Amino acid sequence: MPAITLTTLQSLKQKGEKITMLTCYDATFAHACNEAGVEVLLVGDSLGMVLQGHDSTLPVTTAEMAYHVASVKRGNSDALILADLPFMANATLEQTLSNSAMLMQAGAHMVKVEGALWLAESIRLLAERGVPVCAHMGLTPQAVNILGGYKVQGRNENQARQMRADAISLEQAGAAMLLLECVPSELAAEISQAVKIPVIGIGAGAETDGQVLVLHDMLGLSITGRVPKFVKNFMLGQDSVQSALQAYVNEVKAVTFPGIEHGFSA
Ligand code: KIV
Repeated sequence: MPAITLTTLQSLKQKGEKITMLTCYDATFAHACNEAGVEVLLVGDSLGMVLQGHDSTLPVTTAEMAYHVASVKRGNSDALILADLPFMANATLEQTLSNSAMLMQAGAHMVKVEGALWLAESIRLLAERGVPVCAHMGLTPQAVNILGGYKVQGRNENQARQMRADAISLEQAGAAMLLLECVPSELAAEISQAVKIPVIGIGAGAETDGQVLVLHDMLGLSITGRVPKFVKNFMLGQDSVQSALQAYVNEVKAVTFPGIEHGFSA
């Protein structure tokens, strides 16, 4: 077991201490993130964009995810490892179970699935079988072709009401964590208060229970040159990658990141 478990994250939420999460895809960065005190390493399918150079996360396979989970596991000692089920890996309940098993056996401690209320049954099945689940809501990049781009979600009252209700239903179904991406800050704050499980935000304001960024983004690395509004380059003013990781942890803990300028309004 790593030093950080689900129980640790729940008690951080209860104490009001912010949870730090970063994406991580290999052993060296897993070790560096441990040194900086990052509590959760997300082996995200964003690796399809930042490592493989695709223009979306859709081409990533479960076998590729398992390879990176195993790499992260070898460099990790303290953090909880969260792994993405990639595009269509949860198309059926059978696939959800077998692909989650592959990621857990590679070294993940929790899996993340993108979606909304329709995830409830698979979350219940996984939780019953010992797999903690993080439900990724709001902007779900695997659905970019339905959403018509990487756009803020939950801006109108109907969408916001639906997201609040879905978050509560997914907690009741057994979700252990929620991740909100590109959601108005006020809505993300309401959802964080409405559920007992930790809520992690990216582009969701400062009032979620924790924050996550894509590692390459926060180190100021970009193939396209397009930097989302919610990203801060933590390399600025630092003389090493290790100090940039530490600055991220310090700023999330001190609630100086994200600033108002990194969030979205309704
Ligand atoms: O795949 C990923 O890195 C993610 C983050 C953007 C939260 O899901």
